[in-house]
Amino acid sequence: MDLSRFPRLPLLDLPSPIEPLDGLARHLGDGLAGVRLWVKRDDLARFGLGGNKLRKLEYLLGAARAEGADTVITVGAIQSNHARLTAAAAARAGFACDLFLTRSVPRTNDAYAHNGNRLLDDLFGATVHELAAGGDALELAERRADELRAAGRRVYVFPSGGSSPVGCLGYAACAGEIFAQADAMGLSLNQIIVPNGSCGTHAGLAAGLRADGHDPRLAKSYAVLETGERAGAITLDKANATLAILAPGLTLTSDDIVIDGAHRGPGYGIPTAGMLEAVRLLARTEGLLLDPVYSGKAFAGLLHDVRGGLYPSGANVLFVMTGGVPGLFAYPDVLTGQVEQTTAP
Ligand SMILES: Cc1ncc(COP(=O)(O)O)c(C=O)c1O
Repeated sequence: MDLSRFPRLPLLDLPSPIEPLDGLARHLGDGLAGVRLWVKRDDLARFGLGGNKLRKLEYLLGAARAEGADTVITVGAIQSNHARLTAAAAARAGFACDLFLTRSVPRTNDAYAHNGNRLLDDLFGATVHELAAGGDALELAERRADELRAAGRRVYVFPSGGSSPVGCLGYAACAGEIFAQADAMGLSLNQIIVPNGSCGTHAGLAAGLRADGHDPRLAKSYAVLETGERAGAITLDKANATLAILAPGLTLTSDDIVIDGAHRGPGYGIPTAGMLEAVRLLARTEGLLLDPVYSGKAFAGLLHDVRGGLYPSGANVLFVMTGGVPGLFAYPDVLTGQVEQTTAP
């Protein structure tokens, strides 16, 4: 896959490592039914505390710079990792940054409102606008962009999660990176797992797999924001929009998009018992940090499926560690067990 025609602003040390989860395997023993679990460390980064959004931001900020922008604007929830990493990357690359953050998660405690990602947004120097639930953040962002343009600024706006076709290129590239690494390691992968929020990570991977002639069903996601069905439709649209700029003529159908919606729980950002188990398990057996909103729920889904015999003994399953660590500091009550704010699964 040749992405050289797309402007890219390098933000990452690539490739990110692929590592076996040996500590987890020792702890769970037969509980993994012979399945070998691996992680791809997209949570590692040189700045900003890392996460999957940096791959998208390499292409988004590359496009912004190519268009001569001096300001970037994006949207998200109060504890958005995408907003925090946009603020960090903008600070590093010399863009001004405005964030429109919506109080879309029903958590009003001090930690959620002010700690974690929200604290870092301010530290990275972003101008933050907070909105009540239900507000149209993207519309307000566009209005602000028009105001700034009228004042002579050059503004680039990108959507929630950075999941525009240009942003999705970051994970299309990652599909090629994973295959190159797996080949060099002699590793035959049965599945690549990601969390699904704004759908761009899965969409990018599926598009990249198709562009490189691999089976797009190798990528699988666990929905944490939309229902599984809606996430499937959005992911398909975004994957095809990505292919339209990456490999015109190639398309995907709904059969190519594998999404499990059974581990989202009652809604976006609302803790589940499975998430809590997964976050604690990986912390205590590997010293690795999942997050409460995305990767914790996705890893809970993976554990559930491995335990339920979805994969044959000897299968290799790669879980992409997508970061989100600051989100842990927005959920201290749940993570320390002070409140039983968790629900099945
Ligand atoms: C830590 C983390 N993991 C996974 C995701 C999901 O990625 P996407 O929005 O591309 O589906 C996000 C999105 O915000 C995230 O912050």
